Parts: sequence; structure tokens; C-alpha cells
Amino acid sequence: MKKITHLIDLNDFNLNIVEQLLDKAIQIKQDVNLYKNLMAGKIMGSIFFEPSTRTQFSFQTAIFKLGGQFLGLTDLNKSSMAKGESFSDTIKIMSLYSDILVIRHSKDGAARAASLISKCPIINGGDGIHLHPTQTLTDLLTIKELKNRLDGLKIGFCGDLKFSRPINSLVRFLLHKKNNEFFFISSKNLQISKFLKDELKKYGNYFIELENLNEIISQLDVLYMTRVQQERFKNVNDYEIEKGNYKLNPTNLKLTKNDLIIMHPLPRVDEIDPQIDSDNRAVYFLQASNGVFARMALISELFGSLHGVQNNVFERSDVLDINCSNENCVSRVALELPKLFYKTENSYRCTYCDEEILTI
Ligand code: NCD
Repeated sequence: MKKITHLIDLNDFNLNIVEQLLDKAIQIKQDVNLYKNLMAGKIMGSIFFEPSTRTQFSFQTAIFKLGGQFLGLTDLNKSSMAKGESFSDTIKIMSLYSDILVIRHSKDGAARAASLISKCPIINGGDGIHLHPTQTLTDLLTIKELKNRLDGLKIGFCGDLKFSRPINSLVRFLLHKKNNEFFFISSKNLQISKFLKDELKKYGNYFIELENLNEIISQLDVLYMTRVQQERFKNVNDYEIEKGNYKLNPTNLKLTKNDLIIMHPLPRVDEIDPQIDSDNRAVYFLQASNGVFARMALISELFGSLHGVQNNVFERSDVLDINCSNENCVSRVALELPKLFYKTENSYRCTYCDEEILTI
């Protein structure tokens, strides 16, 4: 069978491969014209089942700058899904027309599921509240460019830490680097997941959870803000309680180090005062523009040195006759998918969304 490489979770690759992707992005950024024919004749397909500005258009910009073409499915009412076509058939068909396929979906694990079906490499453009690996590449590129390292950093994450897939993804990567310290600032209801806490402990990371940003802002090298993810709340009242709780303003900045960097995956709602935009510490627009170089590097490496590098998550998985207990898992709606689970030390986890299922 033809081996293809997907990007579903950055942790599927070893740390060196991720560093290699970042080095490539830095090279591309230095002289973008050198790469203008790299993807000539290739087509990037994209299926966005959820709204997107940065991810979608930075992918488009990236493929155009590499000399390739773009095919996008955004209005699902105009696709055969509106006629009842299954998730799997839609993915299969789009993958037959594309050389590489980006997918964004509201269900956790949708990208992993797509990689099981696809005939071409899949890139995860964000799956539910689970992962957002190309945002992570973008974030890492920005940190590396400005801090010259990805370890030994004091990083604060502030806002909706429960539903933010950029934060989930970034923490899941950074916890494998050395001597990073994590400060999770949120309300009690929007704390990081048990999965992340378990991983942070397993790899011996220092972390604390707190509610007051000003308590630790002076210590931070990186502050990563995020919006409250209104669309993920089941109950409007719960959202009303959380919205507007964290608003970074010029007064907060009086307390910080001069070389703090303030990041945000964007879009923002009201959690960063626009007066801060012109401050040297605000790097979120640089971060958004770095998204193009990170994605150019990824696309070129999926066809270059990463070609055929396979992650073996499916080989490690067992089919079990149980349902994933995560209600937002793709396997709960795309019923044609096999029920796959992989073993960890003392539990099973869902292959698609990583939810812990059984204690063995
Ligand atoms: C994020 C996303 O879609 O997860 N946006 C992005 O891709 N830059 C963050 C968000 O929607 O808040």
C-alpha cells in the first residue's frame, strides 16, 4: 500500500522532525521566492466544516506561494453532504481530487478519522476542542523567532483553557521540551483538561492553575491569550458567566518584563485591548503572518523529506465493541467508522479523540 504522511497531531512526529519543520519555515521566510514552483501542478483541497479566516486563507496563500492550486469546500449545503452523503464518502471523494487535503471539523478526532479514509495526505486544520497542529507550528515558529528557544520558558495561558484547541495543542507539544513552566490562568469552569494535567505530570513539568493574571504576569516570558469559545458552550447562561472575565489592558502591561511576548491565535473578542496592538510586546499579528510560512514548510515537507513517514496509531489500535464516552467524538456521529482504541499504561484511549475509556 502507498505510504502517505498526514499531520494530525504534532506529537505523532519526534521532536527533531518538528524542529526540522520550523527550520524550513525560517528558511522559506528568508527568501520566499526560491520556493515559488515547488508545488506547481499540485492541488490542495480543503474542507472547512467550521468557520475560519486565518487557517483557511493562510493555507491558500501558502499553496499559491508554492505555485500550486486550491480547491475549497466551505459551504456544505452546496456539497452532497446536504443530500445525505456520509463523512467518509465526502473525505474519500475530495481526497481523490486533491494532492493534499486540509480539514477543519467541529468533532474531536475528525482529522484522524479522515486520515483513515483519505487517498492523499490529510492536514488537521482544527478538530473540535482537540487539536490544532498547524496553529501550533505557527506559534512555535513565532516563539522560536522571538525567544530563540522552545525550552526554559515561563508561559502563561489565559482565558478559555477548556475549549481552546490551539492551547491544547501547544501545551501538548511544549511539555516535551525541557524546563518549561506552565501557568494556567482561568476561571474554575474553564481549566485545562484532565488529559493535559496527566501528561504534564507524566513528563515532570512544573505547572500551576490560578485565577488572577496579575499574580504572575511579572514572571512570564510568554503570555498566550485566548477568547471564550462561545460556540462550544451547550448552555448560553454558562457562556454569559464566563465572557469578559479576562481583558488584557495597558495597566496589566505595567507589571510585565520588557521582553514578554503576548500571543493570541485570533480571532479576539474583547480579551486584548486594541490599544496594546502597537506595543512591542504584542506579537499576535506577526504570529498570524507566520502562519503562511509554517504552512508552506509543512506542505513542502509532506511532499519532501516527510514523505512516507508513517505514524502507527492505527497499527497500535484495537477494535472494541464500545462507544467512545466523549459525546463530541467524531465516532459518535460518523457511525461508519471502526471503533478504535489504543492502550496506554493503565487505560484505553479513543484513537480518534484520545478520550480515556477504560482503566485496565
Ligand atoms: C482558533 C481556532 O479555530 O481554533 N483560530 C485559529 O485557527 N487561528 C482559535 C479560535 O477560534 O478562538
